[in-house]
Amino acid sequence: MRETFDIASWTGPFDADTRTRAQTALENGSVLYFPNLAFRLGNSEMGFLDARLTDGKAKNISLDHTSGKIQGTSAVGEDAVRLAAMIERFGAGATEFVTGLLPGYAGLERARTSYRPVEVEGRAYSVISDDRLLHVDAFPSRPMQAGRRILRFFANVAPVKANGGGKRRWHVGEPFEPFARKFVPRLRPHFPGKSWLYGKLGVTRGQRSAYDEMMLSLHDAAKLDADYQNNSPQSAVEFPPGSCWLVYTDMVLHAVLAGEFALEQTFHLDVAQMGEPGRAPIRVLEKLTGKMLG
Ligand code: SIN
Ligand code: FE
Repeated sequence: MRETFDIASWTGPFDADTRTRAQTALENGSVLYFPNLAFRLGNSEMGFLDARLTDGKAKNISLDHTSGKIQGTSAVGEDAVRLAAMIERFGAGATEFVTGLLPGYAGLERARTSYRPVEVEGRAYSVISDDRLLHVDAFPSRPMQAGRRILRFFANVAPVKANGGGKRRWHVGEPFEPFARKFVPRLRPHFPGKSWLYGKLGVTRGQRSAYDEMMLSLHDAAKLDADYQNNSPQSAVEFPPGSCWLVYTDMVLHAVLAGEFALEQTFHLDVAQMGEPGRAPIRVLEKLTGKMLG
């Protein structure tokens, strides 16, 4: 469920036992937890602990490290440049850490970096975009085609509070296979024509595969099922200020109930690069449906 690592340094080398344990636990669907790995803000960055930094529309502020473009923020001019620099410092550090911890994942791709400065608890969302409900991640506009994995690294950068507050509180659900077994029979069939059109129109970056459609449907179906939300097996996990965690969010059912000020780096990885590719959601779904989905 949650596997703790006593690492306090952002740079390796990490010993072979630690690396093996990390990759195996991740692929088995654990959340890797780093209680002593703190991402510290500089004095000049403390002002970024402010929910008003979002533009009020997007859930998160996000940075594309390839273009340096920042989105979803109300910050402008010099402030926006400094905010982007803080997010980039985190993203580069997270990438060094994760590639050092998981050297077997040679083709790991660094994707977007995000900053989440708004308190999750009490915020208003539509059901489908409400991450306080258990779900697996699937991005509507970014197809994973042949089952590319979504691996995410988080840091809680909220100030340490004397009363033990500032924790990011998650629920983690049952393993992927029993979850998929419940929902797959209810899903509607995939229409390749729609995926082709979305690709052509630029609604999606590339074409959605049957796997992408199925993951989006699973994401939505889980969130829309109040009985599943309330009664399925789940356990509470807390990440205090000054900690980090790493998880395959396309496989691990998760919900974020409360917390403010988190940074997040997304990575993608081809299924073939995994130590045990058979554990990838695409392989599990293919086994359950008897169809090729990529
Ligand atoms: C999510 O991926 O559902 C959000 C997690 C978080 O912001 O803590
Ligand atoms: Fe999520």
